[in-house]
Amino acid sequence: MDSSYWDAKFDTDDYIYTTVVNRFVKEYCEPLITKQPKGKMIDLAGGEGRNAIWFSEQGWQSENIDWSKKALSKSLKLAEERGVSDLHFAHIADATGFESVLTPVDIGVVAYLQVPREDLADALDTLVENVRKGGHILGVWHALENLADGYGGPRDEAVLPSVESLTEICAGLPVEIEVLTNRDGQVQTKDGLKPSITVVLLAKKL
Ligand SMILES: C[S@@+](CC[C@H](N)C(=O)[O-])C[C@H]1O[C@@H](n2cnc3c(N)ncnc32)[C@H](O)[C@@H]1O
Repeated sequence: MDSSYWDAKFDTDDYIYTTVVNRFVKEYCEPLITKQPKGKMIDLAGGEGRNAIWFSEQGWQSENIDWSKKALSKSLKLAEERGVSDLHFAHIADATGFESVLTPVDIGVVAYLQVPREDLADALDTLVENVRKGGHILGVWHALENLADGYGGPRDEAVLPSVESLTEICAGLPVEIEVLTNRDGQVQTKDGLKPSITVVLLAKKL
């Protein structure tokens, strides 16, 4: 899937992934935000901006880095609607190698960047580089186990990380893992709510 796939997907007035912050991003980042009311964050592959803009609504500067122009224009529109345009930046770039305008940031978020393992390792490496020492990265993905035991997300094991693959990737990065676990949840399908499995990573930059 290249950026034109995502531009086509986002080419609608509806927000495909909603305008509501992801529940895991909120759960793990809220305590960090509370400790530091005026921080800076990167939302890598931030799409239409639901997570980055939630940070800006808490007073943080946010930078949504995504390769889809369409996603980023919706992110800017949402920031304007929420009255946080002065705190929100949209930056078109490939997640596997980018230069942030806010670097070094306090938190780097990456939610549902479902790409092959090598690309994910490059993206996490670049994200960690742009986080200050003592800052955090928070990652959220449809888990590998979701293929057999859950609904929603890509049906391609090559782009589904697991606790094991993320442990290996993190071993090559200057981070200390604080949380790395599969979490149960639910997704809406045409047949109603169905179970889903999400892998969540919270790591501190060393
Ligand atoms: C499933 S969406 C998730 C969007 C957002 N993180 C959220 O949770 O709502 C995946 C996003 O990753 C972006 N993306 C995928 N591969 C990318 C890459 N190599 N570089 C930058 N963005 C990428 C897409 O454009 C899309 O916005």
